[in-house]
Amino acid sequence: MDEMRANIMVCESAKAASIEAAERFACAAVRAVARYGVFHVAVPGGSSPKSMYELLARPEFRDLAPWSRTELFFTDERCVPPDSAESNYGAVRNQLVSLVPLPEPNVHRMRGEDDPEAAADAYEEELHKVMGVSRRFNLIVLGMGADTHTASLFPGSSALTATGRHVVPNYVERLHSYRLTLTLPVINQAEQVIVLAFGSDKAQALADALRGPEDVNRHPVQGVQPVSGHLLWLVDREAASKL
Ligand code: 6PG
Repeated sequence: MDEMRANIMVCESAKAASIEAAERFACAAVRAVARYGVFHVAVPGGSSPKSMYELLARPEFRDLAPWSRTELFFTDERCVPPDSAESNYGAVRNQLVSLVPLPEPNVHRMRGEDDPEAAADAYEEELHKVMGVSRRFNLIVLGMGADTHTASLFPGSSALTATGRHVVPNYVERLHSYRLTLTLPVINQAEQVIVLAFGSDKAQALADALRGPEDVNRHPVQGVQPVSGHLLWLVDREAASKL
């Protein structure tokens, strides 16, 4: 990834970065609703966005964000039922959705309990139905694994080269299981993408992503390069320690 084009904000702590992320989420929501009447956002699972979700559920954000005009999607999902402890939807439901006035029909979960191919097709249709042909998210929040995967785009996996599809099932050799994931083309259509990376176990991945030679097959997060949108890395000092 061209470091000059990557906008990186190194925050004192994961907490400070999460406050920044929650503010940007709320601002993007207010702006999108003012401009288009609706806010289309996609969010990940994992531990990194947890604190952002908790903040968004607090009164200062909860009462500010236009939840009734928010359409919430997921960047990826594990192939498990929604009540599994592994489910990204289940986690976001507990940490955010159940705590804010976001109408149930506005929450678009990937059906991890279904056949992966059928679930990906169904989500692709859902994107089309709700967002029309553009499928341009106002905001996509992503995490990054220590192996530089993002969403469920893992190193060496077939989803990295998917063309003409916005959602695909992705078999992940290392996990011996399928995941469902948005593809790079739809991620890169977004108006704004925020990637969260916290902790020393992300330091090498962040250095590889931002300083290493470009090799998206090896470092999938390098493929996140919005075509005409804005990319921001929100990281803490520990994650930035090898930059
Ligand atoms: C998931 C994700 C995934 C995640 C990274 C980082 O379902 O796990 O969407 O891409 O963002 O694995 O995970 P942490 O935030 O837990 O480090």
